[in-house]
Amino acid sequence: MTERKLIDSINELRQQRDAVILAHNYELDEVQAIADFAGDSLELSRKAATVDAKVVVFCGVHFMAETAAVLSPEKTVLLPARDAGCPMADMITGGQLRALKAEHPDAAVICYVNSSAEVKAESDCCCTSANALEVAKAFAHAPEIIFVPDKNLGGHVASLLGRTFIPWEGYCHVHQLMTADDVHKARKAHPNAPVMVHPECAPDIRALADHILSTGQMCRFAQADDARQYIVGTEIGILYRLETENPEKSFFPVSTKAVCEDMKKITLENVHAALRDMKHRITVPDEIAKRAKHAITRMIELG
Ligand code: 13P
Ligand code: SF4
Repeated sequence: MTERKLIDSINELRQQRDAVILAHNYELDEVQAIADFAGDSLELSRKAATVDAKVVVFCGVHFMAETAAVLSPEKTVLLPARDAGCPMADMITGGQLRALKAEHPDAAVICYVNSSAEVKAESDCCCTSANALEVAKAFAHAPEIIFVPDKNLGGHVASLLGRTFIPWEGYCHVHQLMTADDVHKARKAHPNAPVMVHPECAPDIRALADHILSTGQMCRFAQADDARQYIVGTEIGILYRLETENPEKSFFPVSTKAVCEDMKKITLENVHAALRDMKHRITVPDEIAKRAKHAITRMIELG
């Protein structure tokens, strides 16, 4: 099928199925282009909770579809590529978090939304990179805070609050591969461009940045700000939205190697197949979903 025919067929099926297509800002350009809504993890969670449709096709990774399934169990949530996962989310299990909690019984537990439903079920509250500071402030009274799984986002928020968290050694390999040398080279090549980086970047990269922002915050910032050029330290899929929304501005990645291969597993072909065959349905067992929902809705209310 040609791309045009594929898109026409997706549009037909989307209507027939009463489906909405949600896409993360790191998805392939053509997938973001056909989405009803593209956004960051927090925006997508909010959308999944409120959207009026029978079917949600989640163009993102497994934990995102799982979050949508927890928030809207009455909807059919489909992940077009069954094996699109997040290696960082897989760096901690529910059992490992239970063991950490047992060592720190008085600690509040905040989990980054990049985690399994089982980990969310063990947590007091979730957060995303867009609202992690607000969420952590809400737990200021806690004697200790466990933050899992991302050591970088946790370290960033802890330093803004002037306290330390009990961390977990998780990280995003895509953000971790950016080096200080990459930032220096980009600044040299584009001296007037402010540097925006994602909080999943390592501390040395964050220290070199002008702004530390979630992907949705980067999009809003670029639209509101006066600069003409930006250096962008996150997964390069974000460039599609930045360039589309700001055609008069230029965006330069810190590293062209910052590609999340899991996000790129969603294609027009498998979105089409997902709608045609109603696959791959993502569900969460009731008992886990109930507890995970508490942590997710608390986050949505807070941030
Ligand atoms: P945000 O879009 O929430 O900034 O998340 C980045 C990310 O790595 C999602 O996997
Ligand atoms: Fe996970 Fe990193 Fe890919 Fe996001 S970019 S899905 S955190 S591996």
